[in-house]
Amino acid sequence: MFIETPRLVLRPWAERDIEAFALVNADPEVRRYYYPAILTPAETCTMLAECDRHLQTHGFGFVAVERKEDGAFIGGLGLSSTGDEIPGGPHVEIGWILGREHWRKGYAFEAASACLAYAWSTLGLLQVIGYTSSINTPSRALMQRLGMRSDPQEDFLDVTVPEGNPLRPHVLYRIDRPTQAI
Ligand SMILES: CC(C)(COP(=O)(O)OP(=O)(O)OC[C@H]1O[C@@H](n2cnc3c(N)ncnc32)[C@H](O)[C@@H]1OP(=O)(O)O)[C@@H](O)C(=O)NCCC(=O)NCCS
Repeated sequence: MFIETPRLVLRPWAERDIEAFALVNADPEVRRYYYPAILTPAETCTMLAECDRHLQTHGFGFVAVERKEDGAFIGGLGLSSTGDEIPGGPHVEIGWILGREHWRKGYAFEAASACLAYAWSTLGLLQVIGYTSSINTPSRALMQRLGMRSDPQEDFLDVTVPEGNPLRPHVLYRIDRPTQAI
């Protein structure tokens, strides 16, 4: 899966990304809306192996985001299949994790917009979902900016997060393939 945008390239993970992505996943601010929070380098390695397997199996996945002008590693973004742990599943989910120094530059919107266009035109998907903890304001703002919509009736609890933890309540966003992409 290769996607090019004006400033970025989305591409499969390379060996050189492992250390850079491990640093992103070791940042408590980046991982503040994840439960449990930070990942060890070994956990990042396992995650990337799973991403590679997913890409091989489905032909799409959660991939690396690189800046074109200098080759800088920005983070990870892409599409993943979900099972029935998400209400109404299975779904194809869009997700993102960018290094903190790259936030608020429009990179996530640019990469995610191109990823959705790829989902409609190349993969022929009819719908993509996103979900996050209800208190994840940046991620929710991004989903809204992308035109994704949530229905409070579809709010759900992530049962892997302990009761009483503020990260347990989750919101589900959906976006349908626009008619002009058909
Ligand atoms: C969510 C995330 C990917 C956003 O990346 P980004 O590159 O900063 O986002 P963009 O600059 O493309 O902004 C997209 C929209 O989201 C809004 N947004 C981004 N960060 C925001 C914040 N901290 N608070 C409010 N809105 C925010 C922007 O204002 C923009 O909307 P606008 O164009 O109407 O202003 C980034 O904050 C991140 O990696 N967070 C940690 C990982 C994470 O929580 N992932 C999701 C777990 S489910």
